[in-house]
Amino acid sequence: MKIVVLISGSGSNLQAILDHIESRKLNASVNAVISNIGDAYGLQRAQQAGILNRWIDHKKYSSREHFDQALIEEIDQHNPDLVVLAGFMRILTTGFVAHYQGRLINIHPSLLPRFRGLNTHQRVLDEGDAEHGASIHFVTPDLDGGPVILQARVKVQSTDSAETLAQKVQLEEHKIYPQVIEWFSENRLTLNGSSVSLNGAELPYSGCS
Ligand code: GAR
Repeated sequence: MKIVVLISGSGSNLQAILDHIESRKLNASVNAVISNIGDAYGLQRAQQAGILNRWIDHKKYSSREHFDQALIEEIDQHNPDLVVLAGFMRILTTGFVAHYQGRLINIHPSLLPRFRGLNTHQRVLDEGDAEHGASIHFVTPDLDGGPVILQARVKVQSTDSAETLAQKVQLEEHKIYPQVIEWFSENRLTLNGSSVSLNGAELPYSGCS
């Protein structure tokens, strides 16, 4: 299974995916890593792993549509079975999302449908939630609202800060993202409109809206 990974930052989720492939826990290949940020550390991780990596600077495009079209042109050169958003911090157009319908997934640092959008760790603390976590979902035009495939939960302690929560959540992310990609590679996941099936059975928590 061919994967293209889109990043904007550190790329620790990319690294987890690469490590699972390297240790043969995941039967897939990352054919390209694309970032909208030139100095994203994830591009160096890709370079070190010998993977084609590209910087497409969103600031050089006059509109979201033009940027997304450039992204599509780069991604489609690699003919991926799956496009993985791993800390890609751009809102995608409905045209982009439609182009990759059913083969575009995202990881979000909260227990969706709670805390869509940014600053999730601080918002969890501000709301006094006892639990936090990460969600992997199919991407639909509804921002952070596509049907959830898998979540990981962490307990929020009174001593936690946004930084410690981010660390705890990321440790879980590094386990669940490779797991979901493995399911996808085994054709066990299907997007049906606003719900997801695993092994043919609809998952209990789906569309977030
Ligand atoms: C991850 O925690 C991911 O959940 C989050 O960005 C981080 C990227 O870390 N994604 C979002 O906030 C998407 N809205 P990484 O670059 O080390 O993988």
